[in-house]
Amino acid sequence: MADESERQDVSWRALWQETSAVLGDRVHARWICETASAATGDEFLSILDEPATVRMVAHLDAMVARRRTGEPLQYVTGHWAFRHIDLAIDRRVLIPRPETELVADVALRLAAAVGPTRTVVDLGTGSGAIGLALADELPIVGTTIWLTDASRDALDVARANLAGIGRSAQNVRIAEGSWFDALPAELRADVIVSNPPYVAVGTSELDAAVGEWEPPEALFAGADGLADLREIVAGAPHHLVPGGALVLEIGADQGAAVRTLLQSAGYDDVDIRQDLAGRDRIAVARRAR
Ligand SMILES: C[S@@+](CC[C@H](N)C(=O)[O-])C[C@H]1O[C@@H](n2cnc3c(N)ncnc32)[C@H](O)[C@@H]1O
Repeated sequence: MADESERQDVSWRALWQETSAVLGDRVHARWICETASAATGDEFLSILDEPATVRMVAHLDAMVARRRTGEPLQYVTGHWAFRHIDLAIDRRVLIPRPETELVADVALRLAAAVGPTRTVVDLGTGSGAIGLALADELPIVGTTIWLTDASRDALDVARANLAGIGRSAQNVRIAEGSWFDALPAELRADVIVSNPPYVAVGTSELDAAVGEWEPPEALFAGADGLADLREIVAGAPHHLVPGGALVLEIGADQGAAVRTLLQSAGYDDVDIRQDLAGRDRIAVARRAR
């Protein structure tokens, strides 16, 4: 086995160029090179003329080979940024999406407005993206965040990511189970946030790479994609304080249906919000007081 200190006569600049040519994508090539070199941002730029170690080149080659099979970049590099945190990501969890950062932002503002203490639940946490970002950004004093998932594998990933948020980790509780079954019966939250599965089984609109690589239990929710949203809308009032907020990520074509679900269930202030592309993406409502 190659010694860690052994050097190959190839610079990071050359490796980045080669990788860009192989993948046909300079940005993806840079992310892979940054992961292999363990240097990011300006630090990576500062080592461009330094040689890579044999072990780093082997890691780079392995990642390039995986990427060439069509495996998503985030699984290949094994990590991905979400708001201000870097999450370990693998095939046990959904790759956190940019639109989910907006969902987290809405939940964050609602939770930050509650004080002096606040309890937030992230249902179907996957990698921990939403709940850990909130734990990271809310005040350490007075904040409790519950992360739940029905998938033990996903919770193992979320637990690994907990270590990455430093002192705020002390505010996080992790619980396994289907939706509200995971929570203590008496728990009442100020904010419940969820990005549940919302893809209709059999849809022709799902990106092929998503269907091939990401966990089906994170994606599909019955024939109309609303099965899990229905369950969460029905159960949340029992676990929200009066006036507490429910924040849901929804599919772009589900705005009207979710508005009806929330209104029929007696929620107040039902609001369907759009993502940066103008598509319905976030449902917000309050438990009646
Ligand atoms: C769309 S993914 C969202 C993951 C993460 N919150 C995010 O935004 O990246 C949905 C998550 O819900 C979980 N899930 C699916 N069915 C569930 C259920 N019945 N109870 C709890 N979690 C469930 C999946 O395991 C998956 O982690």
